Amino acid sequence: MKPSLELIINNTDELQTVTNTLLNFIDETRIVLFYAPMGAGKTTLIKELCKKLGSRDNFSSPTYSIINEYLGPQQKIYHFDLYRLKTEDELFDLGIEEYLNSGNYCFFEWPELVEAVIDNKHIKIEIEVKENIRFLRATKF
Ligand SMILES: Nc1ncnc2c1ncn2[C@@H]1O[C@H](COP(=O)(O)OP(=O)(O)OP(=O)(O)O)[C@@H](O)[C@H]1O
Ligand SMILES: [Mg+2]
Repeated sequence: MKPSLELIINNTDELQTVTNTLLNFIDETRIVLFYAPMGAGKTTLIKELCKKLGSRDNFSSPTYSIINEYLGPQQKIYHFDLYRLKTEDELFDLGIEEYLNSGNYCFFEWPELVEAVIDNKHIKIEIEVKENIRFLRATKF
């Protein structure tokens, strides 16, 4: 069985402890794919993870941008939102392989397109929302 982790998030205050647990699980993996419906809290969670990783960016990114780059004390963090991408070619135009092989954290929202391009180890995180409670499952691949 693949290693996995299940967490429940009742409110944004709980993101403090949830991100600690999640970062322990992520460990040395650098590519993390976030699968969840619109508004489930992908961006919120990724921003908390970036903060925990020591990014001192103010996160005031434009509303629409495919790649956000954060600077941590030890490494860069790439936060991708692939929602508006339609083809794999667009991914290659972004230079996706270089990002994936950089050894820096790569966090993906709407990762369906990038899946086929990844040959490194990665983690999939699924978030389900039921009555404002978030159920999160992380699995290592
Ligand atoms: N754990 C949580 N508990 C309660 N509210 C949350 C939680 N996580 C996020 N939210 C709220 O849900 C809303 C949407 O969050 P967010 O933008 O992170 O979702 P998203 O999955 O990135 O959406 P999109 O698919 O549009 O990118 C925000 O108003 C945020 O404050
Ligand atoms: Mg988002």
